[in-house]
Amino acid sequence: MTIQKILKMKNKEKIVMVTAYDAPTAKILEKAGVDIILVGDSLGNNVLGYDSTIPVTLEEMIIHLQAVRRGAPNSFIVADLPFLSYGYNIEESVKNAGLLIKNGANAVKIEGGAQNCEIIKKCLNIGIPVMGHLGFTPQSLNMFGGYKVQGKEESAKKKLLDDALALENCGVFSIVLEMVTETIAKEVTEKLSIPTIGIGAGRYCDGQVLVFHDIVGLNPEFKPKFSKTYANTFEIMLNAIERFKAEVKEKTFPSKENVFEEGGK
Ligand code: KIV
Repeated sequence: MTIQKILKMKNKEKIVMVTAYDAPTAKILEKAGVDIILVGDSLGNNVLGYDSTIPVTLEEMIIHLQAVRRGAPNSFIVADLPFLSYGYNIEESVKNAGLLIKNGANAVKIEGGAQNCEIIKKCLNIGIPVMGHLGFTPQSLNMFGGYKVQGKEESAKKKLLDDALALENCGVFSIVLEMVTETIAKEVTEKLSIPTIGIGAGRYCDGQVLVFHDIVGLNPEFKPKFSKTYANTFEIMLNAIERFKAEVKEKTFPSKENVFEEGGK
């Protein structure tokens, strides 16, 4: 996959993006042939045990990005710039974006609209492709006052559209639209010539992204309306561990097949 191919997919073929934070997951995603692997800062909620993406650091992102690259050597990987690794200082932001590229990403994702255009242009100038992210942007959770659907009021719709056009004009190759109404996601998608990738943004985006843990049911207490669980992996793993525990307690594991014997193999 390349930026050029992703751009050409608009109006032709839906784009599939899934998150990964480790090598085994990345291996599954590469085997399944997803179009883009996202090393999201949802790493915080899904793997590191934080209650939001806000505590995630650039160093944590890099460790997990490196693991994903090792697991998916041939995939197109986008990595999130985490909270406070960009925005307050342009040079620092561009350097941090560059560190993600040096550590295996093909592109970086930055939350926010027109206010990021200067950073995005500088990134593009030195060869760092950027994906935008609008709507509910989890790093601004404290500004939104909770996980709320965006783009409902006329002023919010206008701002979303203006931001999307500003991002397109400054050169992002696609935009994630998160938790916005289907109506505004459709309008934005139709007005842009770059692809939109939705999560909780309805049916008309050019692609869809979901979190791996939600797809495979690894976090059964978390069932947002916009997501879909395709497997009950939590139950499968729990069952495996319970069976192992039971077999050790009742001394049926290890059995003869699992032991090394003198003179044997
Ligand atoms: O970090 C993440 O998983 C994301 C998706 C919600 C798009 O940014």
